[in-house]
Amino acid sequence: MNFKITVLPGDGIGPDIIGEALEVLKLIGGKFGHSFQLTEADMGGVAIDKHGVPLPQSTIDACKGGDAVLLGAVGGPKWDTLPGHLRPEAGLLGIRAALGLYANLRPAIIYGALKEASPLKSEIISNGIDIMVIRELTGGIYFGKRGRLDTEGGEAAYDTEMYSRAEIVRIAKVGFETAMKRGRKLMSVDKANVLESSRLWRQVVEEVAKDYPEVALSHMYVDNAAMQLVRNPAQFDVILTSNIFGDILSDEASMITGSIGMLPSASLGATRLGLYEPIHGSAPDIAGQDKANPIATILSLAMMFRYSLDLPAEADAIESAVVRVLDKGFRTGDIASAGTNVVGTREMGRIIRAEL
Ligand code: NAI
Ligand code: MG
Repeated sequence: MNFKITVLPGDGIGPDIIGEALEVLKLIGGKFGHSFQLTEADMGGVAIDKHGVPLPQSTIDACKGGDAVLLGAVGGPKWDTLPGHLRPEAGLLGIRAALGLYANLRPAIIYGALKEASPLKSEIISNGIDIMVIRELTGGIYFGKRGRLDTEGGEAAYDTEMYSRAEIVRIAKVGFETAMKRGRKLMSVDKANVLESSRLWRQVVEEVAKDYPEVALSHMYVDNAAMQLVRNPAQFDVILTSNIFGDILSDEASMITGSIGMLPSASLGATRLGLYEPIHGSAPDIAGQDKANPIATILSLAMMFRYSLDLPAEADAIESAVVRVLDKGFRTGDIASAGTNVVGTREMGRIIRAEL
């Protein structure tokens, strides 16, 4: 098949890690008989330098015209003094909004070979951990009415958590569809013992569940979920939650893996078009030094095959090649430990392709 992929390398280590992912893309194309039409566009600091804004309209148009977007990372000290709306990070929020990406998928995986990186005790993670956190990305308290008031008691401020039925239905469907592609187990996380918006959340998730009888649905309050992620993370498969709870829980889940250079993400909307990026930033401290771990970006590419291109065999091939490379003891500096074989960005990419 023929696919159009928009590539946004970005800043810092972005071009290094994207370069390795694109080599993997080419290899997969040859192996499975697909062709990819790649369009590179500017976003972040590189766009500020060339076009004066972090997200030029031409970049939005390029992204909208493709089947998927692959992004490196943006930002760096060079642009830190610019006002908020002109900073590289404004490009990130802008592209998610422009593409209507309301679902953020973040897997947290503890690989057998990397157990020592996790801050959790070995008996807690003895069977490995593979959790997918699905966070609602464009609604809830981060987008609700907010303001400041003068009250009799003095100055006050408020934010509003609001979810419509339609917003909950569409994110719940992403949750159930994802569960169908994995272990058919879904944990919806809310605070329905206190919040009315959570009570609607729970009610609507139950309604959507009727269309997915194969998925085992359960519910958990967010405070308990935060505790259970550390106490017994192996109980979770897919976690479905709101914007603010997902912000917090996805960071917590990623930290139990202990390795920021390993974790991919996907942002999805109403159509197949999705945005795929590592969860880490542009790591200016190691940019251009052949030190960055390309695995988070290569695994983001695997998510692209699974969720936007609907090619699970290609995704599996990439993911299992990464596992085998780790099992053989190859590591970049960020995940190195005693007795492992430390390699640079390009060598890690080459070894993964050789494994493929
Ligand atoms: P960071 O994730 O870039 O780096 C944190 C630490 O992890 C650094 O020591 C870095 O060297 C290391 N690291 C990150 N990715 C790595 C990789 N693939 N391989 C090996 N080591 C890796 O976060 P930081 O330092 O807070 O931010 C740096 C810049 O990135 C800032 O301008 C920030 O705004 C931006 N940023 C961009 C994001 C994005 O594009 N999605 C997300 C987070 C930060
Ligand atoms: Mg956060």
